[in-house]
Amino acid sequence: MTDKKSNAMWGGRFAAGPDAIMEAINASIGYDKRLAFQDITGSRAHAAMLAAQGIITDTDAKTIREGLLTVLSEIESGTFEFSTALEDIHMNVESRLKEIVGEPAGRLHTARSRNDQVATDFKLWTRDQMDACIDGLEALIKALLGQAEAGADWVMPGFTHLQTAQPVTWGHHMMAYVEMLGRDVSRFKDARVRMNENPLGSAALAGTGFPIDRHMTSEALGFDRPTANSLDAVADRDFALEFLSCASITAMHLSRFSEELVIWSSAQFRFVTLSDRFSTGSSIMPQKKNPDAAELIRAKVGRIMGAMVALFTVMKGLPLAYSKDMQEDKEQVFDAADNLMLALAAMTGMVSDMTANVDSLRAAAASGFSTATDLADWLVREAGLPFRDAHHVTGALVALAESKGCDLPDLSLDEMKSAHAAITEGVYTVLTVENSVASRTSYGGTAPSQVRAQIARWKEVLG
Ligand code: ARG
Repeated sequence: MTDKKSNAMWGGRFAAGPDAIMEAINASIGYDKRLAFQDITGSRAHAAMLAAQGIITDTDAKTIREGLLTVLSEIESGTFEFSTALEDIHMNVESRLKEIVGEPAGRLHTARSRNDQVATDFKLWTRDQMDACIDGLEALIKALLGQAEAGADWVMPGFTHLQTAQPVTWGHHMMAYVEMLGRDVSRFKDARVRMNENPLGSAALAGTGFPIDRHMTSEALGFDRPTANSLDAVADRDFALEFLSCASITAMHLSRFSEELVIWSSAQFRFVTLSDRFSTGSSIMPQKKNPDAAELIRAKVGRIMGAMVALFTVMKGLPLAYSKDMQEDKEQVFDAADNLMLALAAMTGMVSDMTANVDSLRAAAASGFSTATDLADWLVREAGLPFRDAHHVTGALVALAESKGCDLPDLSLDEMKSAHAAITEGVYTVLTVENSVASRTSYGGTAPSQVRAQIARWKEVLG
């Protein structure tokens, strides 16, 4: 089958076999062997349809379908010998089928081409990955909900510009990531709906004159319908680009969270302790416990976004319909999918295992004049000041506290009154971090009551 003189699959026109370098640049079997299951599933559906339409006999279809299962079991058990001379998974499978069942194997490729075949296989593979990413995201969301539930009322500093801004709750911060990852889930789900059309039967580019039933193969392969334009169907890799776009956004979210975990686990912050299971030591500094998993997840967005840019660049400018450039699609998607799944699993483990240091969080929340906005709001509410004036008065009190090296609640009532005569004893109640977060009950705000409502909503969504 691996006759060097001319290729067994298209040797009719060729007198000589390819140069070794040609074979090396042309072959995709080294990586597209990952499509074996999808290739065989697609071929089995195709053979059944050809028989149902009277294009091949039932006996041939049965022989082909059973032979394909034998090929699959050889691949799964590792006894299959992949051949570079046979270029790709499609020709490797068909060639082995011929060795096993003989002449009927040659009838399998009726009314199709490798162009619709590869589009179908790759779509089936990518669709499974979308489902796997959705599952991985939901597992991480559940881990975050666990953290949020435990710490719905733990107070920590909220930051803007990485400067202390206002106190927030740990639960609120965790739920911010739940929202981001929830959008990621819905993005993968949207993309899955859009991509779920069957290219098989588009043949090389123009469709076929054989009386095929594309609805039958669509149903057998779990597609919602056949694609409506054969040129588009074999030239389209939008589904792969959408997968990579969704994956890039998710990876970017994971990267942001990783960055926070790296900062939070430092000796300077001590907001969280990562478990030993997701940390590493240093070979030279015995005291070190490094957040390597978080750092690696932070980095994954580089290769995942890189894969997206690479495939966009491959696809831009390609004339219709299929061009061999498109063979460069698979490694990008494989690598991005593998790494995103790994990152999701590592993040889920890290989040489930990590311990929030509630005392450090609270102490940090109370420093940096984090309740200054509460003071300004109090002046608006209780003393009737316009917000801009209240902002000014509060600024003066912050400056006073800073010059004295104390926090806002440590200022005496006389000192408070020096900034504005309308200030009374009542102001002190709004200066504690607990009261600050409890007061922020606007929908989606950081108050524990709001956070608990959002946790309940998400639990219902996830079922
Ligand atoms: N290995 C090829 C790919 O991945 C399969 C399609 C080849 N089609 C062709 N006309 N040469 O794109």
